[in-house]
Amino acid sequence: MTRREPPRRSEPIHNQPLEVPGGTTFNFVADGIAAGSTAENAGKGADDDGDTPAGGGGPAPPLDYYLLMPLLIAPDVSYHASWLEGSAEFGDARRDGGGAEDWPLGGLADARSFRRFVEALRNDALPEAPRKPGHVPCTYLWVVEGGTFLGSLAIRHELNDFLLNEGGHIGYSIRPSARRRGYAAAALAAALPIARGLGITRALLTCDETNTGSRATIERNGGLYEDTRNGRRRYWIECGTQ
Ligand SMILES: CC(C)(COP(=O)(O)OP(=O)(O)OC[C@H]1O[C@@H](n2cnc3c(N)ncnc32)[C@H](O)[C@@H]1OP(=O)(O)O)[C@@H](O)C(=O)NCCC(=O)NCCS
Repeated sequence: MTRREPPRRSEPIHNQPLEVPGGTTFNFVADGIAAGSTAENAGKGADDDGDTPAGGGGPAPPLDYYLLMPLLIAPDVSYHASWLEGSAEFGDARRDGGGAEDWPLGGLADARSFRRFVEALRNDALPEAPRKPGHVPCTYLWVVEGGTFLGSLAIRHELNDFLLNEGGHIGYSIRPSARRRGYAAAALAAALPIARGLGITRALLTCDETNTGSRATIERNGGLYEDTRNGRRRYWIECGTQ
């Protein structure tokens, strides 16, 4: 394999469709993001010889570059054990974009319960899916790498009053043991073209005044600060063109 320089962030690596319930398929191009991964086939983001990126233009990065890149996938039962480990790390600490608020962690150790949870997450993208009052359709994604669950990200398809003022379009969290390695920044970058595919041209991102990590994640992704409402800093990010 010929070693080449990793691509700049604006260059495509993968261009694979991400399918969600309801027949929506996102054709997106994003750094290090592959769709359809499972814990079993993790790491197969490149093409068969592992050298050239699937569907990407431009020079291929070295293989170890792929191995270090997180993937953004639709929730998948094959990550059960890793999801449980990662979720246990949060304890009572804040967790955004996971969608597990109403699912006690203890119950999700059961395989059938976990399957129902995963189905519920995937189905939440459907406008007709049942949901709590005041909640909008949402696409849940998991940040994974090498078969390990690293975190969660949620894209809310539209803004209601609460989301416009405080919640924003996109929420995310990275398991404590995987923080400060660039995963949140990479996951947010990869989520933007997916948001664009959902019709969100400008995404609202918010964080608490005191949340230094989230603030840096948003600003690193080009967030333009608008104002602070109820202690939440509000930023807009252009989601680009398709
Ligand atoms: C906020 C959070 C998602 C950051 O995840 P992460 O994977 O550690 O973030 P990254 O490694 O991608 O870092 C992105 C940027 O934030 C900075 N950062 C991350 N954590 C930080 C911290 N605790 N203090 C200061 N800066 C921090 C990084 O240095 C980096 O900045 P840079 O690009 O200028 O170097 C993670 O801490 C988390 O899950 N927190 C709990 C849930 C949460 O608050 N979610 C956001 C809700 S708005």
